[in-house]
Amino acid sequence: MADRPFPRVLRIEPASQCNLACTHCPTGTVAVPRGLMDAAVFDAVLDEVRRHRDAIKVIVMYHGGEPLLHRRFFDQVQRIRAVHPDARIKTVTNGMALAPAVRAKVIASDLDEIEISLDGLSPAESAHVRANSETSRIVANLLALIDDSARAGRGPRVSLATVQFIRRGDDLVRTLAQGATAPRWITDLFGDAVTYKATFAMRWPHMRVAPEQFDLVQAEGEDLSACDHVENTITVRANGVVVPCCYDLTSQMPMGNVRTSRLIDIWNGEAYRALRAAIAAKRYPHPCGDCNTVRPHVYLVPKWSLTDIDAPTGAGARGDDASPLQPFSLDEATIASNSALLASK
Ligand SMILES: C[S@@+](CC[C@H](N)C(=O)[O-])C[C@H]1O[C@@H](n2cnc3c(N)ncnc32)[C@H](O)[C@@H]1O
Ligand code: SF4
Ligand code: SF4
Repeated sequence: MADRPFPRVLRIEPASQCNLACTHCPTGTVAVPRGLMDAAVFDAVLDEVRRHRDAIKVIVMYHGGEPLLHRRFFDQVQRIRAVHPDARIKTVTNGMALAPAVRAKVIASDLDEIEISLDGLSPAESAHVRANSETSRIVANLLALIDDSARAGRGPRVSLATVQFIRRGDDLVRTLAQGATAPRWITDLFGDAVTYKATFAMRWPHMRVAPEQFDLVQAEGEDLSACDHVENTITVRANGVVVPCCYDLTSQMPMGNVRTSRLIDIWNGEAYRALRAAIAAKRYPHPCGDCNTVRPHVYLVPKWSLTDIDAPTGAGARGDDASPLQPFSLDEATIASNSALLASK
């Protein structure tokens, strides 16, 4: 089989450790050793950027943890920029660490884009999902970043990633067709100063779904024999382990280690070839068998009620009061049977 060219997207994880314990995320729900990328691993990655700068178009500086926990994060970005002036470099952060000095570094940095995460239908729900976070601090940090950046007349594009939930009572087909949108509490705060990226919370491969927090619901769909991630993306974790996609936050599919091997050899090595062949044959290994990329999508349905967590409820809270939720096809029985089905797998 012919060798594949180096992929166009390189993902680098400065920190696999996190300051939050979000209930919808493998990092927040599965205990595995976590840490910060050391100098030897980073130097090896930098060497790979240098070697493959013609192929690499996008460099993503996060994976499973909180990237801004690495105190050399901005130095890493600068060194990558020095060897690859044309790459698009982005990161995603929970925003807790964006204190004034860090904001100044963001604005002066070579990042092209920074994305900040806030979830749910209210500040209280965001705090509930993003355990250990302070919504008011993240909001204040983000507003100040927008302000500082405007005053400085420079800085990366600022985006806001927001995870929303399929709700009990939703018409699943209709809700999915409409797609996730940023809720009003967020758009009222940030207006058109940021770009919104809304998604529905999905059951990520190898996460712990707390039964007291979530039910699961599976959408209609077919198993697929292709995964774009194994064709176009390679990810180096903080400890040097290479994993095939942004969904493997617990290193269930180690493809090699940048400490001991060249990335192009890992990319064309046995583990990657076997994974691609297995996906093509729909013989999904763990945890691909639980992945929305190739399987019918599975979503997290909150068990809490918005009033329980002191959230402002009502149709307007969703930002689509012109489209009341109906009919109630996603009922208790459907959720229970889906959850039982998924639990028995
Ligand atoms: C894994 S985090 C890593 C970066 C950083 N720690 C953060 O929270 O922004 C990257 C993104 O994944 C999102 N995410 C986590 N669990 C998710 C889920 N179950 N479904 C959809 N997105 C999820 C987070 O909200 C965040 O925007
Ligand atoms: S979503 Fe981000 S902040 Fe939350 S636990 Fe996962 S990695 Fe940490
Ligand atoms: S199918 Fe497997 S390799 Fe592809 S995105 Fe899902 S977990 Fe990753």
